[in-house]
Amino acid sequence: SKTAFIFDLDGVIVDTAKYHYLAWKKLANELGFEFTKEQNELFKGVSRKRCLAILLDIGGIEATQEDFDRWMREKNEDYLSYIEDMDTSEILPDVLKVLNYLKDKKAFLALGSASKNAKPILEKVKLLPYFDAIVDGTDVAKAKPDPEVFLIAAHKVDTKPENCVVFEDAVAGIQAANKAGMTSIGIGDAKTLSEADFVFKDFTEISTEFLERLTKAR
Ligand code: BG6
Ligand code: MG
Repeated sequence: SKTAFIFDLDGVIVDTAKYHYLAWKKLANELGFEFTKEQNELFKGVSRKRCLAILLDIGGIEATQEDFDRWMREKNEDYLSYIEDMDTSEILPDVLKVLNYLKDKKAFLALGSASKNAKPILEKVKLLPYFDAIVDGTDVAKAKPDPEVFLIAAHKVDTKPENCVVFEDAVAGIQAANKAGMTSIGIGDAKTLSEADFVFKDFTEISTEFLERLTKAR
């Protein structure tokens, strides 16, 4: 079957990872504790609910269901205010080049994101038309590192997992891709993403020869 390329959204296509971080940090500070960039690595690829549970753990805070729901809402409202004016300038370097190249090669393109805000973000940066399938936080029951999100994406474009290539910036996302039996490509720090089959700092480091090789049947 044809090769499918599955892209994570936050931190791979757009630089929203920093806005997620700012919103969690704001909440932590309001609750009276610090939240560092290092701690934030564990939040990448992880669902909003799970992130809040980890955050409260870090702060040693016990929450009633009511608190929990309110803080989930507050974090998302802050996050939405940060991304309100987002436009095409927030697409990460050479992402468009890679998307166009793969489209040209007639590969399938899919989105595999944990975010419930994925579709409005793709709309803001005008990338919605590129994707043959979109699987996001509204579609999955089991969050990354569970492979569900990527397996649904493969199914939607009718491609076998072994013919899928996943681009991910999160440790949990790389683990999910590996568990799905897909080729995993880390975008970011090689040490952090050492479980990936390949790691690149960003898309400017990925050559068309490399992409070409990936499009060939395995
Ligand atoms: C992932 C991010 O893409 O989406 C996580 O890497 C985030 O940091 C998760 O928590 C859920 O996003 P949202 O937009 O539904 O809160
Ligand atoms: Mg990500």
